[in-house]
This record gives sequence, C-alpha cells and structure tokens, in this order.
Amino acid sequence: MTQHEIFSNLLRAPAPVLSLAPMQDVTTLQFMRVIARYGGPDVYWTEYFRVHGDSRPEKWILDSITKNPTGRPVIAQLIGNDIPALVRNAKLLQQYPVAAIDLNLGCPAPIVYRKCAGGGLLRELQKIDAILGALRDAVTIPFTVKTRLGFESPAEFDTLLPIFAKHTIDLLTVHARTVKQMYRPGVRYDLIAQAARELRCPVFANGNVHRAAQAQALVAETGVRGLMIGRGAIRNPWLFDQIRAQMRGEKIKLPTGRDVLAYIRELWENEITPGVKESSQVMRMKKFMNFIGDGVGEKFLHEIRRVATTADFFRVCEDHLDHDKPLTLEPVSISEAALDLPAAF
Ligand SMILES: Cc1cc2nc3c(=O)[nH]c(=O)nc-3n(C[C@H](O)[C@H](O)[C@H](O)COP(=O)(O)O)c2cc1C
Repeated sequence: MTQHEIFSNLLRAPAPVLSLAPMQDVTTLQFMRVIARYGGPDVYWTEYFRVHGDSRPEKWILDSITKNPTGRPVIAQLIGNDIPALVRNAKLLQQYPVAAIDLNLGCPAPIVYRKCAGGGLLRELQKIDAILGALRDAVTIPFTVKTRLGFESPAEFDTLLPIFAKHTIDLLTVHARTVKQMYRPGVRYDLIAQAARELRCPVFANGNVHRAAQAQALVAETGVRGLMIGRGAIRNPWLFDQIRAQMRGEKIKLPTGRDVLAYIRELWENEITPGVKESSQVMRMKKFMNFIGDGVGEKFLHEIRRVATTADFFRVCEDHLDHDKPLTLEPVSISEAALDLPAAF
C-alpha cells in the first residue's frame, strides 16, 4: 500500500487520527525517530519546504521522507505564494513516498507573512483561491491545507470557509488562532467545530492540546476527524499513547522524573552532530528544553535556560528529574482556564 493510501484509510477509519504538527527545526528526521519510540502519532508532517522562484525541496527536509524511520505516513508541507513554483515543487514531492501535499496558511513570523506567504496569504483571499485551484489540479495524491482563523480577526474565518469548501481538499487542519495572535491565549475551538460542521472534507483541530482527557473532549465536542499536536508532544512524547488509552477508557500512565530524564538523554544522543561544538549542542537542546521545561516546572526552566556546558546541562536535568514521582508534564505557562474547552459549545 502506498503512503497516501494508508493516510486515506486512516481518514476513513472510525478512530480519531492523531498527528504531529509540523515544527520548523524540530520535526526533523531525528525527532521523528525519537517520538516514534514513545508510540508516536498516526501521521507526521514535515517542517515546511520554502517554495519560491527556482527553489527545489531542501535536502535535509527530504530526509524525513526518504529515511522516514517511523513506519507511519508523512505529509510534505509547502510554504510560498508563487503559483508555478508551488505547482512544480508539489509535482516533484509527490514522486516521493509522501501521504499528501500540505499548504501552509498559518506561519505568523513577520519575515514570512510580510512576503505574503504562510499566514500572510490570509489577507489575500483571491490568491488563496488561485493557489488552491492550481495545486488541486497538480496534486494527484491527497492535498491538504493547514490554516489559522484569519489574519487580524477570527471573524475572517467566515470568509475563508467558502474558499476551502470550493476546492476539493482532502483535509483542513485548523490552528484556531489568528496570525496576529501568534501563540497567545484564546484558542477558538468553537470555530473548529464550525469548520467540521460546514465542510465536506475531514477537519483536524490544532492548538494547545496538552492532555488526554482534554483531547478526548475536544474530538467529541467539535466533531473533528483528528487532532494535530505540536508543543504538547515535545513536552510529553507519551501524549499520543495517553490519548489512545483515554479513548479506550483505560487509566493513563504518567511518566516518572527518570522517564523524562531518559527521554532528554535520548534526544541528546539523537541530536548530536559529529564535530559540532559543545556550546552548539547545548544550544540545540535548548530548542527542546524550552518546551519540556515548561512541563517540568519554572525553576527547572529557569536553570536549564542558563546552562552553557554539557556537564551543567545534565547536572540541572538530574537535580530536577532523577526521581520516581509521576509527572503530568502539563505546561506551567498556560493557565488551566486556557486549557479547558469553553463551556458554550
Ligand atoms: C517551533 C515551532 C515551529 C513551527 N513550525 C511550523 C511549520 O513549519 N509549519 C506549520 O504549519 N506550523 C508550524 N508551527 C505551528 C505548529 O504546527 C502548530 O500549529 C502550533 O504550534 C499550535 O499547536 P500546539 O499548540 O499543539 O503547539 C510551528 C510551531 C512551533 C512551536
């Protein structure tokens, strides 16, 4: 069976599909290898391929497709606004073992949106319409879109939905924030529910999914086909299996401090690049520790952000994690209120 047949079957099966969000510089081949050992998601997204002029797919991102070690499908994400270049790259990428081609309509980085790509396209509805039409014609495997709610205001979602409805896309993932909102509180799960109600294609919910019971409630309340999880999965790689257990009605197993320590050691081993300076390796790990630390506690986060050497890095990790107590790994930076579903669905 091809990767896209496996993915299409997942979308048709009754169980909610769990996916790992695309995260630049995080969801690399190395990270996929680690998270797969913890159960992992049902489907992976690559970080985005930058598409412009005569660009070709970046080799290191292609590695996460050609060397995919997970045994699960991977979707190739594109970012850009140059229609001939998007079509050319989509045609190239679909010759690789990918489950789908995905278009990024959400990146909030000013350097991206000012060039009218990613989230910037949400101010150019006619352009989105033209890109979706061209990519739909060019892509012979599933074609999916990942969007935010709008650029300035969630009210824009009402004008976006008819454009998604007009084109035969195979999946819409909704990160239920606006571009201007970046990652601030106020995820509009009610608008994800609206998309799931109004569109014929499957919809995935994305944004602030951090624990199994919340994930289960989100699927039930919004009627989505699946969930996309980003930061919550870096912080807690057990999350996908915890959600599966929750949905089977089983008790959730929490990792201990030592389990988290072993996860950090595994990440370290996987991220080592031969010949790289010690300080660069520590810096690279901090990319992950910003998220993991948020689940361990403020004091840990404060200390780990300040280490510069390998010895200090592991000393701080051992000080805080060399114990057998269970950890929920829920973020300290997000209030309980922001994690919970709004009552008024
Ligand atoms: C470090 C980082 C890198 C990201 N890179 C991408 C990307 O390449 N493509 C994309 O569509 N979204 C990207 N995102 C957004 C995530 O896919 C996701 O939509 C967002 O983090 C919200 O989900 P979460 O609350 O589960 O993390 C990135 C997010 C983070 C934190």
